[in-house]
Amino acid sequence: MTGGGGDGGGQGGGDPFAFLPRDPSPLPQNSEGHWELCPVDAVPEDGARGFVLDDAGVRLGVVVVNRGGRLFGYVNSCPHLNIPLNLWPDKFLSPDGQVLQCATHGARFRIEDGLCIAGPCEGRFLTSFRLVVKNRKIVALEP
Ligand code: FES
Repeated sequence: MTGGGGDGGGQGGGDPFAFLPRDPSPLPQNSEGHWELCPVDAVPEDGARGFVLDDAGVRLGVVVVNRGGRLFGYVNSCPHLNIPLNLWPDKFLSPDGQVLQCATHGARFRIEDGLCIAGPCEGRFLTSFRLVVKNRKIVALEP
């Protein structure tokens, strides 16, 4: 893992975007074709966390939301422009934590079913991603 800082974004030849967060390495599929995301308590209650999966060589972003102890999974792609919902790691929820909110144009999605309730893609849904908890780990199945 790389730390921040380093050559510090000074002048001359460094990566001008070095201050931006890096995508993590994609998580591999297990022998059953599923992805073990994290321990179940690694997504805090009323919080959200993003993951990048290796889906047969294609990077696939997903977001897991813990709503009152219930877990909901979605493909991390806004139906407005099919770009990631978040700009910063794990920042998927509105300031009040009540809905998923796209960082680009502010579309708001119900956590429970992914329906867009306000914004440019109102009436459309996020693609849900099935999750199970197995051996106290969150496991993502196919969408
Ligand atoms: S890309 Fe999400 S609201 Fe426009």
